[in-house]
Amino acid sequence: METKRTLVTCALPYANGPVHIGHLAGVYIPADIYVRYLRSRGREVLYVCGSDEHGVPITIKARQLGCSPQDIVDKYHTIIKDSFEGLGIHFDIYGRTTSEVHEKNASEFFRKLYDDGKFITRESEQYYDPEAKTFLADRYIEGTCPKCGFEGAYGDQCEHCGSTLSPEELINPRSKLSGAEPVKKKTVHWYLPLQDYEEWLRKWILEGHKEWRPNVYGQVKSWLDGGLQPRAVTRDLDWGVPVPVEGAEGKVLYVWFDAPIGYISNTRELLPDSWEKWWKSPDTRLIHFIGKDNIVFHCIVFPAMLKAYGDGYILPDNVPANEFLNLEGDKISTSRGWAVWAHEYLKDFPGQQDVLRYVLTANAPETKDNDFSWKDFQQRNNSELVAVFGNFVNRAVVLTHKYFEGRVPQCGELLDIDRELLEQIPQLRASLERNIEEFHFREALKDAMSIARAGNKYISDTEPWKVAKTDMERCATILNISLQICADLAIAFAPFTPFTCEKLCDMLQARFEWDKLGCPVILPAGHQLAPAQLLFSKIEDEAIDVQTARLEAIKKSREQAEKEAAARKAAPQKPSCTFEDFGKLDIRTATVLAAERVPKTDKLLKLTIDTGIDKRTIVSGIAGQYSPEDMVGKQICVLANLEPRTIRGIESKGMILMAAQGDGKMRFITPQEVLANGAQIG
Ligand code: 2FM
Ligand code: ZN
Repeated sequence: METKRTLVTCALPYANGPVHIGHLAGVYIPADIYVRYLRSRGREVLYVCGSDEHGVPITIKARQLGCSPQDIVDKYHTIIKDSFEGLGIHFDIYGRTTSEVHEKNASEFFRKLYDDGKFITRESEQYYDPEAKTFLADRYIEGTCPKCGFEGAYGDQCEHCGSTLSPEELINPRSKLSGAEPVKKKTVHWYLPLQDYEEWLRKWILEGHKEWRPNVYGQVKSWLDGGLQPRAVTRDLDWGVPVPVEGAEGKVLYVWFDAPIGYISNTRELLPDSWEKWWKSPDTRLIHFIGKDNIVFHCIVFPAMLKAYGDGYILPDNVPANEFLNLEGDKISTSRGWAVWAHEYLKDFPGQQDVLRYVLTANAPETKDNDFSWKDFQQRNNSELVAVFGNFVNRAVVLTHKYFEGRVPQCGELLDIDRELLEQIPQLRASLERNIEEFHFREALKDAMSIARAGNKYISDTEPWKVAKTDMERCATILNISLQICADLAIAFAPFTPFTCEKLCDMLQARFEWDKLGCPVILPAGHQLAPAQLLFSKIEDEAIDVQTARLEAIKKSREQAEKEAAARKAAPQKPSCTFEDFGKLDIRTATVLAAERVPKTDKLLKLTIDTGIDKRTIVSGIAGQYSPEDMVGKQICVLANLEPRTIRGIESKGMILMAAQGDGKMRFITPQEVLANGAQIG
């Protein structure tokens, strides 16, 4: 096993919303398992995270809520930090990119690269709000989506149809700040010429890190094969770390430049005198836990920044990025509210942190996107944690109290069934260790669960409660072995389900070193146990129904909103017509005197109307929408001089004016107040 010290970082979550199960499964739970495991093996580890508090979405949220960006990040920093704590994820430091230390550190980092000539500058044209007198990030430009007609599309994306857009593509673009039409204006920015690092990255990752996960390696390769381009590291914005260069007023560091430096800043904040041993020593391995959307920044951009800086900065040893977790078959979306939030879970399922940790690990999206469903959550709890792990431990401890006053009984002569069980544990331990060290946490959890399954099967097969009636010595051996397995479980599960293992250790009245895992005697005979307590409890349908009903309500309201948006979608304008063309139309008010269905049709009504000039018959295709009773007495508008047509043997003289919106429904047009029949419209 590696002997170097390990610096583990977790992607800094944006402080513009709470964390959800996708974040937990993708980044924070695997990292926590890894850190707990390394520590239990006596390894020196530093575990660093913090809030990512810059970037445009935070400023947008602040505008929407009428508060300052600082208010937003203060609020979510606390919520996120508390959620991590609540789930047993204890970082050595959970910092903030709005901290003084970070501002200074990020600023100094930029300045050194600037002084060393590592940047190039480029002039480009960016959108500018002439009224608000400020440059506009793409998110600050709104308009109609050219793909689906949605009117609230952003300059970088349409959230309605999911298309990636550029501001140039928007129809009727307008600034979100003032509503003005944005104009292009020249601006200068600093760029990191990534292409200069291409060959070096190729060698370092493609040749030197073939062991990285295929999704990570593959993404890096495709970026490198596509050829790298200079990357802007500054932005025209008033929220962020100011660019520390004369003439850069109104500019800040791009959030993706300052955020990864946040890992270093947070380490400096925690260890002002010894941070360098974590960042600049060849005896440290750096591991970044991230989601797949962060791969390019952690494998290409940040390493290029560190390389450009020099000064002995180490590079990541591995970047175990996960794919995405979906929720009930649908993509998790903060803006649509389609998520299970960590802080809400903690409220709804008090004391059940380990169930979530367990389920998210068992379903971790390590090699492909995966799905979380509440039914699966319930099932894994009830039939794995309760029925296997919990049930086994409970039987072993309760029976020990029943027959041996809660003391670990003597182990007598071993039978084959005992040996077979005991031999499995060192093998499972080896597999578990290998899996964790290779970042295969799902498999590692299966190994731990295999120990519980083996124990549960053993106690069912050996039936100590029956043996006790005839052979107390054999019963003692079975329970002794079962209790050793309980101790194995307390060790093997500790990285995954720490709350439960704490409880289990309390019950066993002992704490264990990792190296005891798989040893035949972990608990000596005569050792006193505490009273039995249940490790897990069944999750009833009612608790699950509350969650699924909440999601159902979100889905319904989204479908409703989509329907309404579709209804609002206006048809494109027809080719222009002349004034004379329009003048030919004789449109007037009329009142429906009588209405009846046209026999053997679904859609047609025969209407008798008073046009002010005559009484006449019109056949109209509105029966799907209106019944004859709906129409009688209504004032409508008709095109009176349309050439008569015979429909189903009835002569129809004119046409009722109807409005059709995006939902396909037709509504007749009626004057705002009742007018004389025959009033001309034009
Ligand atoms: O994707 C995200 O949530 C980013 N806030 C992650 C930043 S990771 C690091 F570079 F700070
Ligand atoms: Zn669209």
